[in-house]
This record gives sequence, structure tokens and C-alpha cells, in this order.
Amino acid sequence: MEITSAKTIAPADVLVVPVVEGERGDRAPLRDIDRALGGVLSDAIASEEFSAKFGRRVQTALWPGGELARRVLFIGAGKRAELNPDRARAVAGIAARQVRGTFASVAFLLRNAAHAEAVVEGFLIGDFEPDLYRTKRNESKVTSFTVIGGDRRAVESGRILGEVTNAARTLVTEPPNELTPTVLAARAKELLEQVGVTVRTLTGRQLERFGGLRAVAKGSAEPPAFVTMAWEPARAKKAMTLGLVGKGITFDSGGLSLKTADGMTTMKSDMAGAAATICAMQAIAQLNVPLRVLACVPTTENMPSGSAVHVGDVVRHYSGKTSEVLNTDAEGRLVLADGLAWIAEQGATHIVDTATLTAAIEIALGKVTIGVMGRPDAFVDRVLRSARRAGEKAWPLPLYEDYRELIRSEIADIKNTAGRPAGSITAAWFLAEFVPDDVQWAHLDIAGVAWTEAKPYRASGATGSAVRALTRIAQDLAARA
Ligand code: BES
Ligand code: MN
Ligand code: ZN
Repeated sequence: MEITSAKTIAPADVLVVPVVEGERGDRAPLRDIDRALGGVLSDAIASEEFSAKFGRRVQTALWPGGELARRVLFIGAGKRAELNPDRARAVAGIAARQVRGTFASVAFLLRNAAHAEAVVEGFLIGDFEPDLYRTKRNESKVTSFTVIGGDRRAVESGRILGEVTNAARTLVTEPPNELTPTVLAARAKELLEQVGVTVRTLTGRQLERFGGLRAVAKGSAEPPAFVTMAWEPARAKKAMTLGLVGKGITFDSGGLSLKTADGMTTMKSDMAGAAATICAMQAIAQLNVPLRVLACVPTTENMPSGSAVHVGDVVRHYSGKTSEVLNTDAEGRLVLADGLAWIAEQGATHIVDTATLTAAIEIALGKVTIGVMGRPDAFVDRVLRSARRAGEKAWPLPLYEDYRELIRSEIADIKNTAGRPAGSITAAWFLAEFVPDDVQWAHLDIAGVAWTEAKPYRASGATGSAVRALTRIAQDLAARA
């Protein structure tokens, strides 16, 4: 899809016009385009058929558009005071889902120049369909999308962010028989080398020190891999290195602590943290962010078998610390432990890990909000702000010392589960054991948000959660480096 910006309305198959509650088409700021459309706009807004309310069932209305556009699509954008970038992104997503099957050229009337980036993201995200393996795909007819009133650079950055979000959704959508750990490593290389990120993958004997990754991989017929990525721009400020770590479990059966049949149905998405990490690296490179950013993705399946990790096994991690595996379904923290210690050793001064880590985070925050934990608090706050600026909802959970003792083990340094109470926090404390004290660190638990039902602005399944947040974290760190 070609994505452009324009100063004035250019002819298109369909012109999308967001309408706010209470406004009239025959008054400024819509008056000029109402005239250009021969009065269609004021007719539509005044009609009984249309309401500008925004809610669970958003109103849209398709009208004949005269000379400017074959059709005009009005979309209720709700109250004027609520028309922020997040609302604009949703409206653009709804527009995409309405027009993708019918029109080739789409123009979108921006209601606020500051929404250009979000609108392009929203349109691309709305245009995505997860039917990768349908013999007859429900393909988009849209070949061009023009943002009217948008700044060229904002539109370009929206394009990059929308496309990498969809790239992450594609990876998560891929079934686990296709996207094995080996294939995930190959896909990372494919996506990243063309944009100037160095990708190296450790396998086999090179994984000797990665005890957590090897333990989880033991039960699987598929070999594990440790994918490393480096973005090292010449103009990067030397003092700071961001390290990204993504959980790459291509299928989580639970291992011997087997999940239920229902609990397993979406577990191909247990590499959503890896997908977010890889695709954020793509955006960071394409946006030429002036910061050294390293990343790693420990990837494996978690399967039960005669060679699987036992309940009670003790694992020696990359840092040398040992952990007792009391539940093989708490496998994410085992592989992330190796990734965190490795990336700190590589010189990361700031680390952000992203993982579909705990069912408990969905109990706490639902399928809406990313759970954030880390230290120091000031870094967690920065990460929260960056995530929200990127249009991703994120909220902190407390990493009080009091929770730490819950993961003490009798025979090893720590154990990998402390049961149900504060499950997301005790998981984060496990990770904290592998982050050196002088490194600032935040953990994003995306288990609630990585996979959702369909929305008016987005197809069901993979959401691409954390891609934009991670990119923004890198941009904001670079800006203050
Ligand atoms: N991948 C799961 C977490 C998950 C659950 C993600 C539901 C998305 C939806 C993780 O590996 C897991 O199984 N965690 C366990 C940990 C427990 C055994 C301590 C959990 O949360 O139940
Ligand atoms: Mn698990
Ligand atoms: Zn898992």
C-alpha cells in the first residue's frame, strides 16, 4: 500500500471523514469540504441515519461523494474533547475495516495535524487480516492511502510503525508447526538484515551456558536457538545501551505440568514478546534511532516427553545462579533469565524485557493493559510514559521487597513458582535476580494483551502489542541520552 500525505483533498475512491458529536457540516471547520462535496456532509450529519457517538458500536455512513470522491465514509469520532491520537487511531482502524474490501484509493481527512502518525498506524493495523493460510485470502483492495493535512515525516513514521506492528502480528499468527524456533531465528534475520541490524543466532553447543533455555527445550524435538540482534548506529551516544529481551516460546504446552486443552489453544502466541522485540528492532533501524540497541530472543518449544525437564530439576542459568523448577509451565522466566544475564554482560545499561509471562496479569489488568514492573521506579515511570505516548496502555505493579522471599528455594538460589498470589510480581522477582543492580530494568508482561477478540478497528488474534511501546522507549531514551 502506498502511503502519502496531501495538503488539500485529492480525488479518491473514498474519502473518510471523522465527525465529532454536535458539529454541523455547514459550519467551519467542515464548511469548505461540505461545499466541495456539494452539501453531502451537512446532509449526512443532519440525517437520522448517522450519529457521531463513539462506543461499542461505532456509527458509520457511506454517502455518494460527487467530484472529490466516489464515496464519502463518515465515522462517528465521539466527543470533541475525546478526539486524541488514540481515538484517531481507532477511527482510522474502523475506516480500514469498512473500506478494505471495496475501494482502491482512500483519502482520510485529518481532524488534527497531531494525529497523522496515529491515523496511519490505525489504518494499517485495521487493514490486517490473519488469514495467512486460507487458500482464498480476504485480501485488501486498498492500494493507496492519503492523509489530508498530515506532515510528511509523521505519516512516514506512522507507516513504519503500522507495518512493523503487522509484521509482529504475522509472526504471532504463524502456526507452531510452521514457526519453529529455527524458523523464528531465520525470520528475524530476514526482517532485520535488510535494515542494517546485525543478527547472529547461537545454537547447539553454543548454548552450553544457557541452562534455562536448554532445560525448557529438553522435552522438544525442535532444537532451541538464542537469537541476538545489534543496532549500532555511528551517531549513537556512547554512554547508554538499551537491551531488549523477548520471550520466544513458539508453543507452550506447559511441559510435564501440562496445560488443559483449552489453555493451550492460543499458546502459539507465547512468542509475542519475541515478535515485539524483533519488530521493534526493525522500526528502530528504519527510524534511524541514534542509540545503541542490543536485543536477544531465547526461543524454544515447551513440550512434555521422556526427555523433558522434570518437576524438581535444578537448572544453572547463564549468570551462574541456580533455580528449582517446581512447575514446568513457568518456563518463560527460565529462558528470560539467560537472556537478561547475557544482555547485561554485553553492556546494556537499560533493559526492557517483553513476555507473555503470566496468566495472573490478565486477572489483574484484563485484555487491555500491559503490566509493568522493574527498578528503579524512575525508569519504570519513563517506560510507562513512553508506552502511553505510543498509544499502548500500561500500568505498574509494585515490586516490593516483601514479595521476594516467596521465590526462595530450599535447595537452589530460587524456585520458579510461588503459586497464585501475586503471580505476576513473583515472576518479575525471578527475572530481577538476573539483572545486575547497576542496570535499569523494566519488564512488560503482555500475556493479557498479545491476543484478543476482534474489535471494530482490528481483526481477532495477534495484536502486535509492545512493538510501538518498545520503539518509543528507544526513541525517548535516545532523545535524553
Ligand atoms: N505462557 C504462559 C502465560 C500465559 C497464560 C500467556 C495465558 C497468555 C495467556 C506462561 O508460560 C505460564 O504458563 N505461566 C504460568 C505460571 C505459573 C505456572 C506459575 C501461569 O501464569 O499460569
Ligand atoms: Mn507456561
Ligand atoms: Zn509460556
